[in-house]
Amino acid sequence: MTTAAPPSQDILKPHLAIAGGHKLQGELRVSGAKNSALVLMTASLLTSERLTLHNVPPLTDIDGMESILVSLGVKVRRRSETIELQASSLTSAEPPYKLVNGLRASFFAIGSILARMGYAKVPLPGGCRIGARPVVEHIRGLKALGALVTVEHGVVTAAVPGESKRLKGASIVLDCPSVGATETILMAATLAEGISVIENAAQEPEVQDLANLLNAMGARITGAGGPTITIEGVETLHGCEYSVIPDRIEAGTFLLAAAITRSRLRVAPVVPDHLSAVLQKLRDCGCVLEIDEEGITITPGEIKGVDITTQPFPGFPTDLQAPFMALLATANGTSVITEKIYENRMQHVAELQRMGASIRIQGNTAVVEGVSNLSAAPVNGTDLRAAAAMVLAGLVARGSSQVRGLNHLDRGYAGIEAKLRACGAVLERLLS
Ligand code: UD1
Repeated sequence: MTTAAPPSQDILKPHLAIAGGHKLQGELRVSGAKNSALVLMTASLLTSERLTLHNVPPLTDIDGMESILVSLGVKVRRRSETIELQASSLTSAEPPYKLVNGLRASFFAIGSILARMGYAKVPLPGGCRIGARPVVEHIRGLKALGALVTVEHGVVTAAVPGESKRLKGASIVLDCPSVGATETILMAATLAEGISVIENAAQEPEVQDLANLLNAMGARITGAGGPTITIEGVETLHGCEYSVIPDRIEAGTFLLAAAITRSRLRVAPVVPDHLSAVLQKLRDCGCVLEIDEEGITITPGEIKGVDITTQPFPGFPTDLQAPFMALLATANGTSVITEKIYENRMQHVAELQRMGASIRIQGNTAVVEGVSNLSAAPVNGTDLRAAAAMVLAGLVARGSSQVRGLNHLDRGYAGIEAKLRACGAVLERLLS
C-alpha cells in the first residue's frame, strides 16, 4: 500500500492571505520598540534589584530573550506589555547556543553578564541572510575595558582578570558606529572602575533609550544620542520602572501602509525626531504629514519616485529600505535605492518583481521604475523587513496575495494583521 507523501514544510507554513486594493482609515497604534526592549531587558543583569519595563511589545523575539534571561537565573514575570525582571543572583554566565542562535541582540548581553559576574561565555550570533554581521567591535570594546577575550569553536569567552573582577574604564574609538557594539560597551562600562569614553558611537534612538534606562538605574552616562558617550563607572545599579520608546520602524512601516494604499491615516505614538530622514522622504515623494504631540497623520498625494541611501542614524534606516521600496514600486517615475549597511539586503526585489514591480539591481543599488499596478502573487518574506515589504505590496496589489515568512514578521510586528484589519485592510492568517 502506498502512503501519500507528507506535505512539504513549505506548504504547512502559515501565510497571510491579503486581498489588495482596500483603503485604510483611522489610526494605527505603534507598539514599543523591539530593538530597545530586547537590550533593555539585558540591562536587568546589571542589578540584583527588580527592573520593571513597560510598553514591551508582544513579539517572538521578546519571548526568546525572556528564555535566555531565565536560563541565566533571572526571575521573570510578564503581564500584558509589562515585564518584571529580577536578577537577584545569577546562576549561569553561559546562555545556551540553542537560545542565542537567531537572536542577534542576545549577544549584546555579554557586556552586562561580564560586568556583573566577571565572566561570560556567549555563542557567536548566527550568520544572517542580510549580511555577515560581525561582532569584532563588541569584542574590541570589551578588551579595551580590560577583559581577556577568546573566540573558539564559535563561542566568545570573556573574563576580567584580577581579584576585584571589575572592568576598568577606557577610551574606545569604534571603527564603525555599530548599534550593538555601542550598547554592549555601554552596559559593560556602567559598572567599570573609572571613566570610559566611546567615540564614533552609534546615535540610534535605541542607544539613547538604553542610556536613559541605565541612568534611571543609577548609572552616570552623558552624550548618548551623539557620537561621543562618556560613562563614569559606578559600583552598583538599582532597580527602576521604565517605559520603552515607540518602535520607529513599525511606525515607518505603518506610514508606508498609508502611502502605498493612498489612504489618509493617523499613526501614533511616534517620536518624529526618531524618523526625520524617513519623514523627509515621504514628503519628497508627495505625502503631506501633520505632526501633533503624539502622532502623525499622513495624507498621500500622487506618489513620485525618490532616491534613497541607507545610513547610520540620523540617516535613512536600513530597516525601512525594503518597505519603502514596496511604495516606490508603485510611484510615478524612477527611484534609485542604495543599501549601504548590509551586503545582502536586496532579496525582496525578486519577490516584488513577482508582483509585477519593475526593478533592476546593480550590486547593492536597485533602480525602481514605478508601475501603475502591482498584481497579487504568492511571495516569501525572506527576513523581517522583507516580510513587511511583502505585506505592504499585498495591501495594494490587484487580487489576493499569499505572504509567507511569518516567522520573520512575528519577530518584529506585534499583531500586525489585527492592527491592519481594524483600519480596513482585508487579510487573514491561514495555515496552508
Ligand atoms: C541593529 C538593529 C538592526 C539594524 C542595525 C542597523 C538590534 C537588535 N538590531 O543591529 O535592526 O538593522 O542595528 O541599524 O538593535 N559591523 C561591523 N563590525 C562589528 C559590528 C557591526 O563591521 O563589529 C557593521 C555591520 O556589518 C553592519 C553595520 O556595522 O554593516 C551595522 O551593524 P550594527 O549597527 O552592529 O547592527 P546591529 O547592532 O547588529
